[in-house]
Amino acid sequence: MGFKKGFIWGGASASYQIEGAAYEDGRGMSVWDMFCKQPGRITDGSSGDVACDHYHRYQEDVDIMRELEFKAYRFSVAWPRVLPEGGGKINEKGLDFYDRLVDALLKANITPYATLFHWDYPYALFRRGAWLNPDSPKWFADYAEVVAKRLGDRVKNFFTLNEPQCFIGISYDSTEHAPGISFPVWDTITMMHHVMMGHGLAVKALRGNVKDAQIGFAPCNGTFYPATNSPGDIDAARQACFDTTESWTWCLTSVSDPVMLGTYPEKFIKMFGKYLPASWEKDLETIHQPLDFYGQNIYNGSCAASDGNGGYKIIPRAPGYACTNAVNGLGNLSKWPVTPECLYWGPKFLYERYGKPIYITENGCSCHDVISLDGKVHDPNRIDFLNRYLLALRRAADDGVDVGGYFHWCVTDNFEWAKGYTDRFGLIYCDFTTQQRVIKDSGYWYREVIRANGENL
Ligand code: FCB
Repeated sequence: MGFKKGFIWGGASASYQIEGAAYEDGRGMSVWDMFCKQPGRITDGSSGDVACDHYHRYQEDVDIMRELEFKAYRFSVAWPRVLPEGGGKINEKGLDFYDRLVDALLKANITPYATLFHWDYPYALFRRGAWLNPDSPKWFADYAEVVAKRLGDRVKNFFTLNEPQCFIGISYDSTEHAPGISFPVWDTITMMHHVMMGHGLAVKALRGNVKDAQIGFAPCNGTFYPATNSPGDIDAARQACFDTTESWTWCLTSVSDPVMLGTYPEKFIKMFGKYLPASWEKDLETIHQPLDFYGQNIYNGSCAASDGNGGYKIIPRAPGYACTNAVNGLGNLSKWPVTPECLYWGPKFLYERYGKPIYITENGCSCHDVISLDGKVHDPNRIDFLNRYLLALRRAADDGVDVGGYFHWCVTDNFEWAKGYTDRFGLIYCDFTTQQRVIKDSGYWYREVIRANGENL
């Protein structure tokens, strides 16, 4: 069977991580601009002020994606570039940039997939309470409408939000990400509820303004795979995947159930229901908008086994377990476990529960990438990583999971949030001093996978 005909092979990126041009053409400030100015927040003291200068070099980047024969490109629109104050006056020049980008993509035969919000929250709205403000869902929907009206004649595929788990969980609970202020659980639960309301209203705005829109969202969560193929362990992994625990932001169903099923999990209500806004039951109808696909960013997972009593236990990782690398010695950066099984079991469990075509909206790894003496970038570890993960994904497709697409994170190396430029996730190397791009071996390898629709794996 393999990947279906028309499978979407693409790459992903996010505005603040690649665009640069932070002070150009009327762009407003985002929480990330302000966060990067605070000493100690970013590992290497950097910011996204310039990043990959994609704002000016988008044509070159589109040309490379065309050379690599990408079918699709998932990018995000910077809310404060379009609405410098978060709402109100539209910055036409900001929208013009996305016009140019979309036109270039379409000319290159690359289908645009636009994410409305990938973390660069308008600072002006942060000062009005951000997602804690009961008006915040409407602010997001109004912004969605502006984007839909301008790009919706050419962009048909949308993701509303990227990883609410992160932009609430590690931004307002733990504080590694902007704005990096810790709030108590009753506030973060309220924020997340508003985020989901924003999602629902934005879907309505997109449907109302874009003919034939295809819409999803792109959460991330812990994925789990079974220790063995015994029915008990498989059931344990499924339980772990959908359970509610104290770390509620990382529990898949805290967000995906309301969005996809229109309900909070019973256990969530028992544990956290008292913190939800009074209107929560009524709001579920708005939150639960029909979606066309289910996107999820999946990088790794944990192993679960039956506890012998109908429950599950998490199996600790073995000493010296395989993990991805980081660029330099600034700390334990994106050293993430290599667990290809998650790209089989993740989509399988998600498809069982939500019944929508599954899109892997992000997957990839940070490697120790350098330009070698021969002028090339050799990244065998990334090729091996992708080979293993994509084989697992193909196995899911073979077993009847409707897998619609795969977006590699990332297209070019970029500003990796709090880790600055110390991580390299791209298929394309970026020299941040000269802005030179070099296609890595993995980029050419990915082109072969695209050409063969994954049959060569
Ligand atoms: C994801 C983010 C993306 C990038 C990758 C490495 O959590 O969505 O912006 O940082 O991790």
